Amino acid sequence: MLILGIDTSCDDTSASLVENGTKIISNIISSQTEIHRKYGGIVPELASRRHIEMIWPVVDEALKSAGAAFQDLDGLAVCYGPGLIGSLLVGCSFAKAICYAKSIPLVAVNHLEGHVFASFLEEPRPDFPFVALIVSGGHTSLYRVDGFGRYTELGRTRDDAAGEAYDKVSKLLGLGYPGGPVIDSLARDGNPAAIVFPRAYLPESLDFSFSGLKTAVLNYLRQSAAATGDISGGKPTDIKTASLPDIAASFQGAVVDVLVRKTEWALKKTRSERVVISGGVAANGELRQRMQDMGKDLGAEIFIPSVPLCTDNAAMIAAAGHHHLRAGHVAGLDLNPKAYLSLDNSPVDTHAL
Ligand code: KG4
Ligand code: ZN
Repeated sequence: MLILGIDTSCDDTSASLVENGTKIISNIISSQTEIHRKYGGIVPELASRRHIEMIWPVVDEALKSAGAAFQDLDGLAVCYGPGLIGSLLVGCSFAKAICYAKSIPLVAVNHLEGHVFASFLEEPRPDFPFVALIVSGGHTSLYRVDGFGRYTELGRTRDDAAGEAYDKVSKLLGLGYPGGPVIDSLARDGNPAAIVFPRAYLPESLDFSFSGLKTAVLNYLRQSAAATGDISGGKPTDIKTASLPDIAASFQGAVVDVLVRKTEWALKKTRSERVVISGGVAANGELRQRMQDMGKDLGAEIFIPSVPLCTDNAAMIAAAGHHHLRAGHVAGLDLNPKAYLSLDNSPVDTHAL
């Protein structure tokens, strides 16, 4: 079964051909990072406009590099949410037009479900059931996954997503957008014990909270600026000023500690033996290492896709779309994108063939 996946949920235009939900034939990603960098974050209007320019060339390249044509497809899987509504609209409208013109079954895929299925695109593949941690710029959630379409949310962030915290802290540090990769690399030369930033463990809950950590970094920077006289009128204090790598490592240490600890709690609570981790923050070197260490300690298997499959891509949409198509979930041409969509709702807007 050959599926064309399309993802335009945020700032990357991506199209991919995947066979049988597991084998990537092509995976093309056109990044918009350079467009948004100078604004310090994604500008939704610019993102939608760029998707409009790039959707045809990216789909064309995905087909050409696979030596395939529209008539070879068994289905077209498009991400219909959650995400930026204008961006989603471009992918959904394009997908509906192609499916109508070429008589291809349209499959609607939840972006979060796509992240879960990224782990099935590489060896070794996880067996069900498993705990899934989706940790990205827009989401930080834990699920118990008992099979395709069987997702139970165990916890989610109550405020900022972990990736959002990386991006905001990076902005505070003057390191630009996106923050994750730059803090990840700076932190390698820093001491994670240099500054003790708060960890919001929220006892008894598998929810997350990262906004207090972001504020703690801001307060630290204000105090150290005052201590070094960087803020006019600020009174010097006895605060020690840490280096940029130390601040990056201390911030990252707080994020990673919470993500690892909560995942460990989720494993114990659900008596699972496997963890699947995905989303842009799963590209983080320290998180990947610490999760593997935790898995060894607990005797649990840890599945983290290679970096290009952690960040947004259309191969994961095609992988999840494969299961929908096999289950007969074909979307109508009245499919509407949704900015907000939880994973439990993923089969909504589809109807049996
Ligand atoms: O999954 P993704 O590509 O898009 C969303 O669905 O949000 O995730 C993007 C997020 C951004 O916040 C970015 O800063 C973060 O993932 N990210 C990282 C790393 N690479 C990307 N965070 C920490 N370490 C990284 N190496
Ligand atoms: Zn994502």
